[in-house]
Amino acid sequence: MDNEQPPQGKPAYKPPLSYKVLTPLYDLVIAALTRERVWRKAFIQEISPQTNDRILDVGSGTGSLALGLHQAAPEIRYVGVDPDEEAVRRARNKTTNLKSSIRFEIGYFSAENAYFEEPPTKIITSLVLHQVPLEEKRRIIRDAYDLLPEGAMFCTADYGRQKSWLMRFLFRITVQALDGIDDTRPNAEGIIPVLLEETGFIRVCETKRIATPTGVISIYTGARPDRMEGES
Ligand SMILES: C[S@@+](CC[C@H](N)C(=O)[O-])C[C@H]1O[C@@H](n2cnc3c(N)ncnc32)[C@H](O)[C@@H]1O
Repeated sequence: MDNEQPPQGKPAYKPPLSYKVLTPLYDLVIAALTRERVWRKAFIQEISPQTNDRILDVGSGTGSLALGLHQAAPEIRYVGVDPDEEAVRRARNKTTNLKSSIRFEIGYFSAENAYFEEPPTKIITSLVLHQVPLEEKRRIIRDAYDLLPEGAMFCTADYGRQKSWLMRFLFRITVQALDGIDDTRPNAEGIIPVLLEETGFIRVCETKRIATPTGVISIYTGARPDRMEGES
């Protein structure tokens, strides 16, 4: 597995399909094996992009979500951040002709960085949390919480709890075969809403479950409480 060397003190990461050599196939594989049109459409509906939004996409990969968000709301400001140079290069190529405020940064997401002149209104991430170690899942969610203003939404689409034996089996022979067992198992056991609640997000919800040939992809949302809600 290609675990790219991270900046000092940062965790290693897996490229989009775990092996660098497979990155050119990423869009094809996702389209063929994840019912991509269905879950991306549902995810974008859940994000509900609005003209004034500043959307931060953690692990933005090859830019497919940026394209979909742009089609839904061309005026949004969007920053995608991803440690994988090749994925970011592809994302920039894919969106180069759009007259919009779409920007991609190479690097790790961190609450210490400023991505816009004001805090993001929404932080989103798709198909990232399942492939990072448990501590990194926790850190990404914690940093998202710290960076979001009160009342703002975190939204993720990813492999979630695999309830049926068929979905567990499909997940095992595809995603876990590629991304390994250790990092992916917590997702299949339903860790994401638990981490969101542990971090302090409220109204945590699994709003959709989409069965795919590689397992169920769930959409989870949570809101950063405002001061009144945080105290109650
Ligand atoms: C499976 S791809 C998903 C890409 C994109 N979000 C999508 O929906 O197609 C996972 C992406 O997460 C990035 N990634 C891996 N580890 C990461 C980390 N610790 N923080 C942020 N992004 C990470 C990878 O470089 C890769 O581009």
